[in-house]
Formats: sequence, structure tokens, C-alpha cells
Amino acid sequence: MALWGGRFSHAADVKFKLFNDSLRFDYRLAEQDIIGSIAWSKALQTVDVLTNDEQKRLEAALNELLVSVKDNPELVLQSDAEDIHSWTEGQLINKIGDLGKKLHTGRSRNDQVATDLKLWCKKRAQELVVHLDALEAKLIELARIHQGVVLPGYTHLQRAQPVTFSHWCLAYLEMLERDHDRLEGCLERLDTCPLGSGALAGTGYAIDRTALAHSLGFKRATRNSLDAVSDRDHVVELMSCATMSMMHMSRMAEDLIFYNSGESGFIEMSDLVTSGSSLMPQKKNPDAMELIRGRTGRVFGSLAAMLMTLKGLPLAYNKDMQEDKEGLFDSLDTWGDCLEMAAMALTDLKVNEERTKEAAQGGYSNATELADYLVAKGIPFREAHHIVGVAVVGAIEKGIPLEDLTVTQFKEFSSVIEDDVYPVLTLEATLAARKALGGVSPEQIEYALTEAEQRLADR
Ligand code: ARG
Repeated sequence: MALWGGRFSHAADVKFKLFNDSLRFDYRLAEQDIIGSIAWSKALQTVDVLTNDEQKRLEAALNELLVSVKDNPELVLQSDAEDIHSWTEGQLINKIGDLGKKLHTGRSRNDQVATDLKLWCKKRAQELVVHLDALEAKLIELARIHQGVVLPGYTHLQRAQPVTFSHWCLAYLEMLERDHDRLEGCLERLDTCPLGSGALAGTGYAIDRTALAHSLGFKRATRNSLDAVSDRDHVVELMSCATMSMMHMSRMAEDLIFYNSGESGFIEMSDLVTSGSSLMPQKKNPDAMELIRGRTGRVFGSLAAMLMTLKGLPLAYNKDMQEDKEGLFDSLDTWGDCLEMAAMALTDLKVNEERTKEAAQGGYSNATELADYLVAKGIPFREAHHIVGVAVVGAIEKGIPLEDLTVTQFKEFSSVIEDDVYPVLTLEATLAARKALGGVSPEQIEYALTEAEQRLADR
């Protein structure tokens, strides 16, 4: 039975009911709805709407319901209740009769759904923090294992300067740490309890909302009832956390797909996260990475949809807001799955050190070194840049790398070049030169790694 039948003389059209009902997705709020209801029953007792005995009976019945929902979350789906709030109330009345009908005193589904969703967001966000932690730890572990492995660094997907595999890992770690911070910030902001805001104007009972908020584990109660029932900022924020983090993972996936390609051959992805082709027996496709990249699109899409839905809404609650859940659930599920999959992919990743070194050595990626060498000999950088450009063309014409030019050949480009140029052009020297903070010298990488390990340990 609907919660609101009295005002109506006819039942709703079956098609409208299907269109309107949200139980098929908001069943995921069952636990939160029951926990919120228990807290509400206690609040009602403090204002004498319920006697001590009534509250105890309500609480016992709600706890029974909680156990059955935890055992079997799909149980809720067997009902034709309109939404999770109607379901809980209906179940309660089935269990304990008329007493169940008192629970909704002073409460609205508007403050109820806002509270349920915030409780759910808090729980889910904490799980996501754990997934983020795990992927961050994986990146640090990988950086440690491959410390010293050289990797070509790219700009415009052209070999630019050598970096190291560890440096690559730590770059993604930076992004994930920012994602982590954002998520924590979001958790901090959403930690306010809307319960007791009623439909929009506040509850008609003198309930201590701060105590109620604390009893549900919130830091404080919301300050304005109109805002409390209309606010979905946390939904947008969490979806945007997911969006940003998926964008990072998608870039990581793209790098790994490229490194895994036959053309570069820098890495081999684990059998655990790759698949074969039904036709071409030689293939080992980086599906996990492609799916991370692919699923990023739908997370972006859900965020855009949510923003569009909210943009024109007048205060306070509007049914449009029921549209907040499916996109949020899907985005956070997708984000969590992708974080897990990325961690799995990094667990068993093989790096082909010879290939990465060979590639890092090619592509004239020591050209900047030659320019810096000329600068050290007193030539202004802009001029040095030009000279090296010409030297690169000369080497390309001869089909050799810069370091294979003889001193005589070098002197055609600049008379200041002597024998001491060769040590400068080695991979090792190229890396070692970048010893300022954040650079790729072995000391800097060691420093960055130790710092990162410490940050994670301190959490
Ligand atoms: N199922 C609704 C939602 O998710 C619950 C709130 C309904 N409130 C109302 N006034 N009809 O938004």
C-alpha cells in the first residue's frame, strides 16, 4: 500500500507506478534506512511521541529487519513497495502492527532520503579510500621493484628525455594522492545530518537534532532545513571525485596499453588481466586497461547528467532528485572496480628493461644534454638549442645517434665541442643531471620513494 493513499480516490496507473517507483535501485539504502529509523525512534521517545516500551519494540523489530536485510539484500526487491522508505515502514507494520504506523511522526521521506543517502555515501567513500590506498601502495611497490629501470619519456608521443619507470609510477601516485585528498575533503563536508528537517520547514517536534546527528555518527546537524532536503552537493562532489580519478586511471591505462603494444614492447601485462583473440592465436589483449579507459566515459557522463538534473530545480525537494541515485551508484561502483583492477594489473606486470633502455637511448633524447654542455662552454641556451638542432639533422642523415659522431664531426656544428662531450651524452649522465627536487636523478627518485612510503605509512 502506498504511504499517501488518503488524498486519492483511484489507484495510480500501473505504468505510472513503474515509472515512479525507485525500489529497484534505492533498495541499496535498506541498511541506512533502518539505522536512520532506529535513531529517529529514539528521538521520538525524547519528545514523548513514543513511550520507552514502544520505542524498544520498534527498535527490536527494526533490528530484526536489519539482520534479514544484511543476510539477503535482494530480499527487498521481492516487494512492490514504492521506495525503500515505504518498504521499511511496510515491513515494520507487518511485524508489529499499528505501532509501526507511529514511526513516521515528524519525519518526511525528504529528510529521510537525504539522511540515508549521506550515510550510504559515507560508507561507500570510506571503502573507496581503502581501494585508493591499495592502488597507491601498489604503485610505490612497483616503483621500488623497478628502481633504476630507464624508460623513455614522451611529449607529443615523441621520445623527449629519458625518465625512469619508478618516476612514471610516482607520477601516477601523485594523481591518486590528490584523488585521495579530494575524497577525504568530500567526506568531511558531507558529514552533516539532515534528519529532523522534515519535508522542508523543519520537524514540528522539539528534537535535539545535534544529539540525533551524533547518534548516527555525523559530526553535526545541518543548519537549514530548506537546504538540508535539497542539497545534493555531496552526490556531485563524489561523482566528480570519481570523474577526476577515472581520468587519471584512464591516462595510466593508455600509457600501459602503449607500453604493452608490439611496437614498444616495454611491458608485458599479466595473464590475470588480459584476454586472447578468438581468431588470432598470437594475441594477448590489454582488456583490463581498455575497459578502465572505456568506463571512464560513462562516469563522466553520469556527472554531467547529475549536474543537468539539478541545475534548474527550485527549492526544496523535487522528484527530479530521485534521479541522483543510479548514476551515483554506478559511478562509485565503476570507480571502485577500476581501482581494484588497476591494482591487480600492476601486481604482475613485467618490465622489459632491455627494451625500455634501448628505446630511451634512441630518438635523440640526449639532445638537451648536448645543449646544456654547450651552455656550460659559454654559449647562450637559445644559440645552443639551434646548434644541437642542426647536429641532430646531421646525425639523422648519417643514420647514427649523437654520441656516435666523432669530435671532428661535432666540430662542424660547434668548435667548442671536445672529447669531454661523450660522458655527458650517456643515459646515466642524462638522468643524474636532473637532481633538483622532483627530477629523475637516482638520488631524487630515492628521496621521492622514501617520502611516499612514509606518507602512506603515516596515514
Ligand atoms: N524515492 C524518493 C527519492 O529517492 C524518496 C523521497 C520521496 N519524497 C517525496 N516527497 N515524494 O527521492
